[in-house]
Amino acid sequence: MKLWGGRFQKETSQMMDDFHSSISFDQRLFAQDIRGSMAHARMLCRQGILSAADEQAIQAGLQGILQDMQDGKIDFPPESEDIHMLVESILTERIGDAGKRLHTGRSRNDQVALDMHLYAKETCGETIGALRALEETLLTLAQKHAGDVMPGYTHLQRAQPITLGHHLMAYFEMFRRDIIRVRHAREAADCSPLGSGALAGTTYPLDREFAAAELGLARVSQNSLDGVSDRDFLLDYMSAAAIGMMHLSRFCEEMVLWSSIEFGFVTLDDAFATGSSMMPQKKNPDVAELTRGKTGRVYGDLMALLTVMKGLPLAYNKDMQEDKESFFDARDTWLKCLRIFTEMLRTASFRTGNMHRSANAGFANATDCADYLVRKGVPFRDAPAVVGRLVAHCLEKQCAIDDLPLEELQSFSPAFDRDVYDAISLQSCVNARSLTGGPAPERVLAAVQNGRAWLEQLPKD
Ligand code: ARG
Repeated sequence: MKLWGGRFQKETSQMMDDFHSSISFDQRLFAQDIRGSMAHARMLCRQGILSAADEQAIQAGLQGILQDMQDGKIDFPPESEDIHMLVESILTERIGDAGKRLHTGRSRNDQVALDMHLYAKETCGETIGALRALEETLLTLAQKHAGDVMPGYTHLQRAQPITLGHHLMAYFEMFRRDIIRVRHAREAADCSPLGSGALAGTTYPLDREFAAAELGLARVSQNSLDGVSDRDFLLDYMSAAAIGMMHLSRFCEEMVLWSSIEFGFVTLDDAFATGSSMMPQKKNPDVAELTRGKTGRVYGDLMALLTVMKGLPLAYNKDMQEDKESFFDARDTWLKCLRIFTEMLRTASFRTGNMHRSANAGFANATDCADYLVRKGVPFRDAPAVVGRLVAHCLEKQCAIDDLPLEELQSFSPAFDRDVYDAISLQSCVNARSLTGGPAPERVLAAVQNGRAWLEQLPKD
């Protein structure tokens, strides 16, 4: 007989049980579910709704179930409807009638919402930890490569020289925003819906604030209908996950390009690459490709839950059981990708010599050459055309601007002088770009220092 079987005259069909059971995926909530129940029982006793003897039996019973589940001693049979029913029925089996009193003043609707709040809050903590480790890796690398020149691109065409440290610090900024978004999601999760009952609260004199505080949650929800039917806190996390995966995916795209022979900007550690049996020369950047590929499923997870929620009348609807697989998948995928990507990045070696050669060969200093002419009195509107002709000439001769002797340069503009070589060297090009946020080595080092200070002031929990 089901716990809710009173008004039914026959058993549900096997098909029905298979269809609506969520135990296969909500079993991962067992620790949150049990913690929630322990806090609820403590509160019920404090309010005189549960006797001290019952409460003690419940606490000991729940503690035992928690231990057994952690030790893998309890199966999650497919015929159990969900984790909440399973824990309660095992509890009742073990301690008798007291187990049946645990659910007083509570519904599975506020119970499952609470479990998800607790789980999401922990997930946010883990994600911030993973993002932080990635940020630290980026800071170390950016510091090391603050002065290494590479080409910067627009349209994937060599554009202006930058430094590798500068390029890496662009990702630091993206992941910094991800941390801020996850912190927001954590705040949204940090709320207890317990006491919302099925939808309209309860007539029992519960102390909602006490239960929330027992669970380390910052506040209680302010409307019982919203308390059981809000899943925004999951969507907050999943939006952050979708954006965060987009950031990772862009970085991955660059790792794939950079590790090709055509670019030759990075060599991946053997531990984070794969080979091919048929083409023995190959070393494939699978981590980057898979992360790029998995981005789509995280977008899909977000879209799935947004779509589940969009047509739901207040308050709880069984549709909402569909929140879990999407949320868990987004969480698992993002965390896994963050962790392996960080290791791949940490162990990769950047081929700064190739980067430098590439910046040299690509006319990355053409803008600086035009700026030089402007400084020498050529009008701002004319200088780029002069350099354009110069570049066309160099393309024909297959050389760089600064490979040409001064007389040849002067045939394009008499404003060229001996100091041009120094002015358009790659090092001068990057050194001169020293505004806040620029690629100059001193700026990169300052950005690294600021980044480090920012990470340090982040609350640790
Ligand atoms: N397994 C359900 C879920 O995940 C728990 C809540 C069920 N509530 C109900 N009234 N049937 O949403």
